[in-house]
Amino acid sequence: MRVLLTGAAGFIAGHVSTALHDAGHEVVGLDVMLPVAHGVDAPTPAGIERVDVRDADALTAVLAGVDVVCHQAAMVGAGVDAADAPLFAGHNDLGTAVLLAAMAEARVRRLVLASSMVVYGSGRYTCPTHGTVEPAPRTTADLDAGVFDSTCPHCERRVEWALVDEDAPLRPRSTYAASKLAQEHYALAWTLATGGSVTALRYHNVYGEHMPRDTPYSGVAAIFRSSLEAGQAPRVFEDGGQVRDFVHVRDVARVNRLAVEAALGGFTPLNVCSGVPVTIGAVAATLARAHGGAEPVVTGQYRSGDVRHVVADPARAASVLGFRASVGPEEGITAFADAPLRAVPARA
Ligand code: UD1
Repeated sequence: MRVLLTGAAGFIAGHVSTALHDAGHEVVGLDVMLPVAHGVDAPTPAGIERVDVRDADALTAVLAGVDVVCHQAAMVGAGVDAADAPLFAGHNDLGTAVLLAAMAEARVRRLVLASSMVVYGSGRYTCPTHGTVEPAPRTTADLDAGVFDSTCPHCERRVEWALVDEDAPLRPRSTYAASKLAQEHYALAWTLATGGSVTALRYHNVYGEHMPRDTPYSGVAAIFRSSLEAGQAPRVFEDGGQVRDFVHVRDVARVNRLAVEAALGGFTPLNVCSGVPVTIGAVAATLARAHGGAEPVVTGQYRSGDVRHVVADPARAASVLGFRASVGPEEGITAFADAPLRAVPARA
């Protein structure tokens, strides 16, 4: 198949491109080469066209003969600074809207969309008395006192994490998350208007070779790795008991390939995860041990806006696409301890 891959110079799309090529697909790669991700005046890698997905004319030219669009281009980051909202809305939402309109015009009917676990907000929790609940917001007083676990909004008892499936409520907590959810909403509306199909892949915590080094946009695995390389101990926030699902980028690439090849109808959101939950403390310990570096330090610090646990349910991607992660977190994080990382770009 001929696949238009946006964000092709990025960490995840680089692996997606390899997986698609290896499966015999023809890849047309686009990237706008955002300075924040690639550095100021970074050259566009060979084989990739420098195109902003908000440029409808440029898209029309490259969409001819394309069977599927795999849309990985996005502005990423924590999205906790309100001033960044126009950037997220511009690159992510307007970008997706322009792309969808150009696809309709060019009669390209299938989209694989890179979405994110951030659409779920705080994750899922159960109270022993009240069942599934949206947890009460964590208060500064509790966090300052080292009380990190979320509580029930009705009885203030501690809640336990539960698996987040694709039908969980969607409650973005940041401008970045709002933009990822808006992308999904535009894509859903597009399926209804055009009869096209969209698979929205909700990535959980992605890591692996060529992940960008320690930048404001890096996930915690790259931050810990960079500390270890600098001879410093990984600094684990809260008590290290935060639970996430770390999924290896090669598995993320494979699920993109499966979604490109599967002719699913309508709008299908799917978790992309390993299915093996881990704590942040365990991630730090595994990395430090495998790297032969300093033992992690549990600092008790916290980042405002962080959520306590987000733990993905892998079942739907398994039943719909036959996707099961092949790299578990213990194996993958151990290998990541010495994997090559992408250099820090010179920033604007
Ligand atoms: C992800 C997104 C974030 C989004 C959030 C919402 C990324 C990089 N982060 O965050 O944009 O708002 O989902 O669910 O895509 N930690 C440490 N030490 C550090 C850095 C982080 O212990 O030096 C901890 C954090 O407190 C957090 C955990 O590591 O508990 C994971 O952090 P991170 O990698 O940023 O991912 P998410 O919190 O899952």
